[in-house]
Amino acid sequence: MMSTSTFRITLQNNLQRLVPSSSTSSAILFNRTMSNTTLINADTPIISLDEVKRFIVDCMKAVGTPENHASELAELLADADYRGHYSHGMNRLDIYMNDIKSGVCDPNAVPTILKENDCTAWVDGCNGIGAVVSNFCMKLAIKKAKQSGIGWVTCKGSNHFGIAGHYTMQAQREGLLGFACTNTSPFMAPTRAKQPALGTNPISLAVPSSGKEGMVLDMATTAVAVGKIEIQRRKEAPLPLGWAMDENGQETSDPNKARFLYPLGGTEMNSGYKGYGLGILVEVFCGILGGGQFATNIRKWGDTTKTANLGHSFFALNPNCFASDFESRMQNLSDILRNCQRVNPNEPVLIPGDPEIMHMAAVDKAGGVRYLQNQMESCKTLAATYNVTPLKPKD
Ligand SMILES: NC(=O)c1ccc[n+]([C@@H]2O[C@H](COP(=O)([O-])OP(=O)(O)OC[C@H]3O[C@@H](n4cnc5c(N)ncnc54)[C@H](O)[C@@H]3O)[C@@H](O)[C@H]2O)c1
Repeated sequence: MMSTSTFRITLQNNLQRLVPSSSTSSAILFNRTMSNTTLINADTPIISLDEVKRFIVDCMKAVGTPENHASELAELLADADYRGHYSHGMNRLDIYMNDIKSGVCDPNAVPTILKENDCTAWVDGCNGIGAVVSNFCMKLAIKKAKQSGIGWVTCKGSNHFGIAGHYTMQAQREGLLGFACTNTSPFMAPTRAKQPALGTNPISLAVPSSGKEGMVLDMATTAVAVGKIEIQRRKEAPLPLGWAMDENGQETSDPNKARFLYPLGGTEMNSGYKGYGLGILVEVFCGILGGGQFATNIRKWGDTTKTANLGHSFFALNPNCFASDFESRMQNLSDILRNCQRVNPNEPVLIPGDPEIMHMAAVDKAGGVRYLQNQMESCKTLAATYNVTPLKPKD
């Protein structure tokens, strides 16, 4: 078995390689497949979400982040862990801290509006924390949607924004449709290319329905997230074909040879060009519309020598501008889909957002989240390094 040493994506000769790292960031091993979400099966203590947030705030303050901005980041990362996206929660804390320590992200920055009308705004994130910039943009989009039916806000000058669904659900909670997307560091090789040119460029759409959950689609536009390759490598298990390619642009099932991600769909034969198209769509809404960096101009993942200058787009849309009873028809659609005949009687048909709902229910029942041992050790190291009170397990 692989050791529990952490993995970090490093870059050599412009190729991403998944290599063991001694950094404090821990990759995650979690018991979650694409359609099956359970609380991680780790022999570690339960940590309440309040304690997760307290620890993140303390760590961010220790590197010079004001409390209000640290809290916004803590809400984002705790939300990711709560929803079962462990790759984007506590696991990312040290990356955000490193960006601030190295001076490539300004923890004090407050976004400014560069241009606006009733329905749109162009924002400069001023190199602030991604969560702070994104909350500012989505709040503005919601305000405009309530006044004018739609609010579309695009920004430049931002940093990594975490899980896209965190922002779209803000609109959903207000009875609006919410959309969010971001560009990211290059990881995905376009169809027929053997070099990465676009990021994992996630998109999210959250919509309300008359049921209490609504629908939350939140997904990368690559075949898989990088973390899923790391997991196969740790398990010493082969990659399904269509996830990643080697340095020659050939499909590989060897996780050690994986260099770049395929777009959603995989190879050209399997319509990967559609995922490639979705990645371009995101880049048009983010880097091109926003005026920040785009495609191969974006700094490489983990590079703390230059600013990220990422772009995001958010919109909020009032369904009452269209046919009446949106929420009940949306619920009807959800019921139709969930009630489709099952291939396997034990596997219910889901709609996007259902796996996360199941994970949140498990966290609620347990009273908190569990992290894997290597994540707990990373947190312990952070606490000692920054003189922060260590994570306290739930009583
Ligand atoms: N900020 C960034 O740079 C960045 C980049 C990539 C991904 N992310 C985030 O990472 C998270 C994980 O992305 P991912 O693509 O690995 O997600 P995923 O593959 O786990 O899930 C994608 C979507 O599919 C839905 N889903 C899963 N199983 C399903 C089923 N059986 N039936 C119906 N729907 C189902 C989920 O609810 C989700 O909406 C997201 O929150 C995303 O925003 C962020």
